[in-house]
Amino acid sequence: MTEDSNNPTPQRRPLALDDILLPNAFAYEEGTVDFAVLFGNSRPVELEIGSGKGTFLVHRAKARPEVNFLGIEWANQYCRLAADRMARWGLGNVRMLRADAAAFVQKRIADNSLQRVHIYFPDPWPKTRHRKRRIIQPPFVELIYRKLCIGGQLAVVTDHRDYARQMAWVIFGQRGFATVPFPRTHGAGAGEVVGTNFERKYIAQGRRFFSLAVMKWR
Ligand SMILES: C[S@@+](CC[C@H](N)C(=O)[O-])C[C@H]1O[C@@H](n2cnc3c(N)ncnc32)[C@H](O)[C@@H]1O
Repeated sequence: MTEDSNNPTPQRRPLALDDILLPNAFAYEEGTVDFAVLFGNSRPVELEIGSGKGTFLVHRAKARPEVNFLGIEWANQYCRLAADRMARWGLGNVRMLRADAAAFVQKRIADNSLQRVHIYFPDPWPKTRHRKRRIIQPPFVELIYRKLCIGGQLAVVTDHRDYARQMAWVIFGQRGFATVPFPRTHGAGAGEVVGTNFERKYIAQGRRFFSLAVMKWR
């Protein structure tokens, strides 16, 4: 009797770290990424920017094996930790890259190629003189708009009221986006929006969250 007929639940087969974690140099290669080559199939691709320890991606990639996921995280130790978690879960539909997401998306992601972009609890840079460091700025949102396919979505969550206002102003200001209900997220537990590490920490502090999702309709 085969293993599959014995047990209909897919087996968890750990992968090597290198199966998940892309080399840093991948960010600087010439040309746009061929996702079909990267993942070995032509399934839709979702991008998470600032994956942190990878909690959201682990849950979503487990729940959506028919989708490919690319996580970009700037902090080397978090990126490796996240990739290690994906490898231990045997999540062959995920790749992690240590890179600056804005530069990577601009240089390496083809236009109209992403199904969804997730940006959860991006650094709020609360001091006025640091606000220009926030990732959600008009040129960045215009870039994300170009990289999404028609029907593709951008989903953002923050706990920071001022950043939430900026996000709404910038995202609603991008032509071609229409507001949609925030997508249901499989990993999120009771009372959670997306179930990331920061969200769990902030729930314990009683903070309120602001979430927004838009779809590229033209
Ligand atoms: C506040 S943490 C949130 C992490 C995770 N999304 C969560 O909710 O638990 C923001 C993360 O974004 C990463 N980050 C900040 N700027 C980035 C950039 N330009 N490209 C990729 N990652 C970035 C940081 O290293 C950090 O891990």
